[in-house]
Amino acid sequence: MILLVALVLLISLLSAHSLDVKAPKFTVSLDSPPQERWTEPVSYMIDTYGFDHSFKNVLDYVDSLIPEPLLLKLEPVFLKVMDSFPDEYATEIKGIWNAIDGKGYGDRITVGQLAAINLMYELTVFCTSVLAEDPDGNIYHGRNLDYGISGLQNLTAQIDFTSGGSVLYTGTEFVGYVGLLTGMKPSAFSFSVDQREMIDQHKNNHKGWEAFKGVIENIISGVEGGKPVGMFLRKLAEEGSDFSNALEVVSKENLIAPVYIMLAGTASGEAAVVTRNRLHPDDQVGEGVWPVDVTNGAWFRAETNYDHWVDVPDTDNRRGPVNQCMIELGFENVGLEGIYDCLSTPPVLCDGTVYTTLMQPKEGSFETTIRNQE
Ligand SMILES: *[C@@H]1O[C@H](CO)[C@@H](O)[C@H](O)[C@H]1NC(C)=O
Repeated sequence: MILLVALVLLISLLSAHSLDVKAPKFTVSLDSPPQERWTEPVSYMIDTYGFDHSFKNVLDYVDSLIPEPLLLKLEPVFLKVMDSFPDEYATEIKGIWNAIDGKGYGDRITVGQLAAINLMYELTVFCTSVLAEDPDGNIYHGRNLDYGISGLQNLTAQIDFTSGGSVLYTGTEFVGYVGLLTGMKPSAFSFSVDQREMIDQHKNNHKGWEAFKGVIENIISGVEGGKPVGMFLRKLAEEGSDFSNALEVVSKENLIAPVYIMLAGTASGEAAVVTRNRLHPDDQVGEGVWPVDVTNGAWFRAETNYDHWVDVPDTDNRRGPVNQCMIELGFENVGLEGIYDCLSTPPVLCDGTVYTTLMQPKEGSFETTIRNQE
């Protein structure tokens, strides 16, 4: 008997190191005033993890990029940049600050810092996205979101954005951020964004001058009218009608940063990796839009953080392993489960992986798993 108890204890201890849990789910009603929309998720994060284990993790990261005295001087600049955000989202950000303040932490963070955080996430998202089609023409979309900041697990949530009582779109969010890096409009399309590697952040460990320069470039681009990618994608989720409409919109908008945008739809052939520079798809080799193409044997596409037409650096090869895993899984067997397994295999799953989201727009299925939870 004692032996059995000890065995059970041992097993639970052994499995405790990789606690993968489903993300907490919230509903954000788009019918409610923007300043009130995020109160519940913000309160949940602070109540559950404490300010120091949730929002402070991100603030520490901002501090590591921008020295504190400079950060305070930049406050008016960040507020100015916020003027360039769509009014609705700027008001949501103020509402998030109010909710933090309501929990007694208003003196620990400023509205300008929250605005800066909203520009920064899209800068350093190391990710792996997989698009696939099975023999019946079903389309699958999976993604890992990897991040250099530790502690984002404690801000991760799955949000249903509702309108008139029904779900308009769903996304995986870091509470505090109002854009969408991973989202789906049921019966229409899904999307994920991966950073397009332009600066050597691995060498710089996501820190230092290069990353700071990236923030400044983003700010300048923001002031010049480039759209923050996450906010752009959230608008797309709200207004886009279907895959081909989404592909068209994604191909022409002026964005704040170069990125990969993966889109999946509901019918055969409706899945593509779009390699974006700030103004449009990068067609230097004619593959700015890189679709799945079952008739030519390309039943899946995987994208990490490098143009698919160039080799990945030796120091960060997640592309080879994810491609290999998908090939072993096979066209006949592909599905969300198999994609999850491939996204869960190191080095595709890495220390920085915060969450894995699986999406199937046709079925309206969307599931976020938080990874590497301590
Ligand atoms: C999440 O919060 C808990 C405290 O509730 C803390 O022990 C844990 O380290 C935090 N996780 C991360 C990844 O920061």
